[in-house]
Amino acid sequence: MRDVMIACDFADKEELNLFLNKMGEEKPFLKIGMELFYREGAPLVRELKNKGYKIFLDLKLHDIPNTVYKAMKNLGKLGVDITNVHAGGGIEMMKAAKRGLNEGGSKDAKLIAVTILTSLDDNAVKNELGINLSAKEAVKKYAENAAKAGLDGIVCSPYEACIAKDLNLISVTPGIRLEGDSVGDQKRVATPSFAKEQGSDYIVVGRSITGSENPLEAYLKCKKEFLN
Ligand code: C5P
Repeated sequence: MRDVMIACDFADKEELNLFLNKMGEEKPFLKIGMELFYREGAPLVRELKNKGYKIFLDLKLHDIPNTVYKAMKNLGKLGVDITNVHAGGGIEMMKAAKRGLNEGGSKDAKLIAVTILTSLDDNAVKNELGINLSAKEAVKKYAENAAKAGLDGIVCSPYEACIAKDLNLISVTPGIRLEGDSVGDQKRVATPSFAKEQGSDYIVVGRSITGSENPLEAYLKCKKEFLN
């Protein structure tokens, strides 16, 4: 069940289609995030599902339990494979999200929790979020909460994938860069082969593929490093 997901951070459907047309025979697992979803909405997700793509809908819900429950009930109608919330919303919120997703009709969809964003480092966790733990310790705490809430997995950096394993959770790990690529705004970055060594279940790769001169080649390289 391990796979490489492509973060489709495109402005609109036209840009996405231009990109997908470059992928040849490949049908990658697509991560649709806020940028594209807020522009194109549910019809795009339905269209991609109808075309046979697996979808991780990365909307990172974070609100009071009742609001998240109702929002998830709507998302549950889309039939995505994976979707998520922020673990920072607490255990009750995560439980409400799971209930909403099930009641919306997505009983088989996996619900995962974002722990500490891969764009944050130890310094930001302590001094900006005011959490007196290292990023890794904070990920562990949030992952334990996700497990208590009955979620299926967590989003974390490859450095923390072992935490998910210990809790029997799947790990979805962004912050992936091919050797030599620019880090951009990410802080806790790793290569696909390092993610493999650490036991990540899924890697999320955005700009290392979408910003590449040859995205198909970059995608195949990620698959080769991560899956072989
Ligand atoms: O371009 P890049 O590979 O950095 O893209 C990473 C993707 O993963 C982005 O879509 C970002 O929103 C998402 N993500 C992340 N860190 C998390 C959760 C999601 O970078 N903790």
